[in-house]
This record gives sequence, structure tokens and C-alpha cells, in this order.
Amino acid sequence: MTADATFAARILEWFDKHGRKDLPWQKNKSRYSVWISEIMLQQTQVKTVIPYYSRFMSKFPNVISLAEAEQDEVLHLWTGLGYYARARNLHKAAKRVKSDFDGVFPNTFDDVLSLPGIGRSTAAAILSLADNQPYVIMDGNVKRVLSRFYAIEGWPGKPNIEKQLWNIAEDVKPLTRFDDYTQAMMDMGATLCTRSRPKCEQCPVSQHCIASLNGLQAEYPHKKPKKTLPEKCTSMIVLFHAGSVYLEKRESVGIWGGLFGFPETKKDELQLSLNQIGASPKSIEPLQSFRHTFSHFHLDITPLLIHLDQLPNTLAEEGRNKKTMWYSLQSPSKVGLAAPTLKIIEQIKAHL
Ligand code: ADE
Repeated sequence: MTADATFAARILEWFDKHGRKDLPWQKNKSRYSVWISEIMLQQTQVKTVIPYYSRFMSKFPNVISLAEAEQDEVLHLWTGLGYYARARNLHKAAKRVKSDFDGVFPNTFDDVLSLPGIGRSTAAAILSLADNQPYVIMDGNVKRVLSRFYAIEGWPGKPNIEKQLWNIAEDVKPLTRFDDYTQAMMDMGATLCTRSRPKCEQCPVSQHCIASLNGLQAEYPHKKPKKTLPEKCTSMIVLFHAGSVYLEKRESVGIWGGLFGFPETKKDELQLSLNQIGASPKSIEPLQSFRHTFSHFHLDITPLLIHLDQLPNTLAEEGRNKKTMWYSLQSPSKVGLAAPTLKIIEQIKAHL
């Protein structure tokens, strides 16, 4: 037996003892019933699916009854499962089976794949589970098992990594029992080779699993790489006078809309900004710069602490238009402040 044949043989042996065999969609299996269950189980947990599956199969026991239903009826039975495109595609596909395949759910890979809402893995699940055809699936469970076993470097959502995983899955599949093997791989991923705290001590292939042997289960499968975000920078003018700092209410559009914050300036426009505010500084001290990250960019912030001797008239007219305020560090007003504003206020308190 080659090492690869051993993999499938061990998985099947484990399945015989520990696999799930009493799920509702494992009884009276047909391509139709497996299809319905596989679509419901996408993005939805087994225990949530069970009652929906039972109701759906009672109401639409075969593909013709589904094809002839009103869309509203189908959507009604889906209420609460979410991702309603799944139900619309199911209905569309049933109509297609009725019109293009004489009402018989197709049994060749390409015909199944041609139906709306069915991709390569779902087509493989239907044909292997219902008809014992020699196709392998590639869901999140299988990706996790194979990525760990072979210590696959790279995020499995990336097309070239996914292609590599499909190739490996084909290489290690058994020569028989494709139905049990598909179910076994799902069960392995769902019950032993879980995302956190995998039960390697119970796993039939852990002795050859590169991740397990090296204690690197948590590293595989690799996570989706973080996007590299654009970097912007800004300086924040922190006018300080008599225990208070000067804040302005931000425009309601844009970042921190409607919150109070420090006036911002570009590095070489500080003097201009100070003139606009009407402030003449006694001293300017840069405080510790820091980074604030939004979903779509990094913002590097340099606070500039500016001590004012006297209050210019323009700044003394606090709050009349509710657009500016002197924020006391000792007894702060209850206004909305963005996280970086609070951080700067903490820096100042520590600095003074
Ligand atoms: N998730 C997707 N298909 C499944 C199946 N047949 N059994 C258990 N969980 C599943």
C-alpha cells in the first residue's frame, strides 16, 4: 500500500467506527435529496438545517414538485436559513431539470455542474454521496484536513492553492467507497480536525500529518492575507489653555463624522492653520506619533501640543454655535470622541 492509499484507507476505517450515519439526508438518499441537503448545509450548521430539511422534503418530495411550486412557497420554507439566493437557485435549477432533463436529476458531472447554484464541489458531493461516483469535494473541512496533513503553504482561497488542494484530493482518494469517503472527510473536519483544538490523538492519520507532527496545527490552513492598506498622515493641533484643550465638531460626512476632535493640518501648513484658527503659540511640541487603522487605510497621526498664553477672541467664543468647545481634562464634557482623540488626551495628561 502506498502512503497515499493508506490515507484513504485509514479515513474509511475511521468512518466505519466513528463517522456520522444517521443524519436525515443519509436516509433514502437520492441525487435530489442530497442536493437539497448540500445546498442547505452551505454556510449553515447541521443542527439548524435538520428541521428545515425535513419540512422541505415533506413539502417537495421530488424535483418535479419543487419545479412546479410557486417561488413564494419555496422562499417561505427557507425563512430563517438566510442566503436566499440559495433557495432561488434551487427553484430555478428544479425547473431546468424539469424542462431540460425530462424531470430526472442528471447523473453526469457536467450536467449537474450546469445547474444554477451548483459548483464543482457541490456537484462532486451529490454524485459521490448519492451515486458513489468517483468525485471528491473541496469544502472548508477538506481544505483544513489536507492543508494540515501536507502543510500546504498559502491561503486555500487563493486560486493556485485551491488548485493544488484539488490535485492532492484527487491523488489521495480511494478506489472504492466514494460515498463514505466524502462523508468521512466532512466528518473528520467537523469533529476531529477542527479549526481550534483539533483532536489529533483520535485522528487516524495524525501520525503522518505534517502539521500535527510539528505541533503547527494552528498555522494551517494559512489565513487569508491582510490587504495592504494605503497609508495617509495627518497632524493634529492640540491647543492647550488653562487645563483645557480645544476641540471642533467634525463635518457629518467623512471619518469621525459628527464627533468632536482636534483640528487637523498637513505638516507644512501648520502656520496657515494656526492663522485660520487665530492662535499664536507660545511653544509647539510634537507628541508621540501613532497609527490608527481604518478598514480601508492607515492613518499616521502626529499630535502637536501648542501652549497658548492668551486666548484670542475667536477662540474664547466657545460653544455658541455648538461647533467648538474647550474640553476640560479635569472635568470632561460628555461628548462623542473618536478613539485617537481620546488617546491624544491621555498622552497630554501623562505629558503635563
Ligand atoms: N456539510 C455539508 N454536507 C454535509 C453532510 N453530508 N453531512 C454533514 N455535514 C455536511
